[in-house]
Amino acid sequence: MKILIACEESQAVCKEFRKLGHEAYSCDVLPCSGGHPEWHIQEDVLEQLNKGWDLMIAHPPCTFISRAGTRWLFPKSKLNKERYKKGLEAKEFFMKLLNAKIPMIVVENPVPHKIFEMPKETQIIQPYEFGHPHQKTTLLWIKGLPNLKPTKIVKPEYYICKKGWRHSKFTANWDAKKKSKTFLGIAKAMAEQWGS
Ligand SMILES: C[S@@+](CC[C@H](N)C(=O)[O-])C[C@H]1O[C@@H](n2cnc3c(N)ncnc32)[C@H](O)[C@@H]1O
Repeated sequence: MKILIACEESQAVCKEFRKLGHEAYSCDVLPCSGGHPEWHIQEDVLEQLNKGWDLMIAHPPCTFISRAGTRWLFPKSKLNKERYKKGLEAKEFFMKLLNAKIPMIVVENPVPHKIFEMPKETQIIQPYEFGHPHQKTTLLWIKGLPNLKPTKIVKPEYYICKKGWRHSKFTANWDAKKKSKTFLGIAKAMAEQWGS
C-alpha cells in the first residue's frame, strides 16, 4: 500500500509500515529524526493529500486545541482571543486532514478543549495498552479501518506533566521521552493491524 504518515518527523510509524513491505512516507515541515530521509517528505502535508495514497495516519499539532492547554486559553478565567484564534486554525488544519479524499484515514490527537467543538472521536487508546507503562489519553478519529486492538496491557507508572513524563511514586524518576513522540508499541500495532 501507498501510505502517508502526516505530521511525523520521528518516522516511528513510517518505519513499522516499511518493515512490512509497504511504500510508506513520513511527511513533516521539519527534517526527519528517524534516520531515513529517503522515506521523508519535508513540506506542508496539505500539498500531499491528492497524490493517490491508500492510507493516511496523521498526528497534527495539538498545542492550541488540547484540553491540557486550558490554563493558557482561559488565563484568570478570561478567554485569550489570540490563543483561541490559533486553536481555530489548528482545528481547520485537523479537519482538512480528516476530510481528505483518501480511502483509509486515521487522525490522532489528545483530548481537545470543548470550546473547539471537535467531531466525536472513534476510539480512545492509552500507551499502557500497547506495552508501555505510560498514561496518555490519545484519541483516534478513524475512517475505513477497524479500531486498534490492545496488544499488551501493562500497569501505568508514568504520567504526563508540564515538563515530560513523571513516575507515579518516585518524583525524581523522569522519562525524558519527548511528549509528542509516538510510542513504538502503538506504531507497531498500527502497522500490523492496519497494514494487512
Ligand atoms: C504533535 S507533533 C507529532 C509528532 C509525531 N508524533 C512524531 O512522532 O514525529 C506535530 C508535528 O506536525 C508537524 N507539522 C505542523 N504543521 C505541519 C504541516 N503543515 N505539514 C506537515 N507537518 C506539519 C510539526 O512539525 C510536528 O512535528
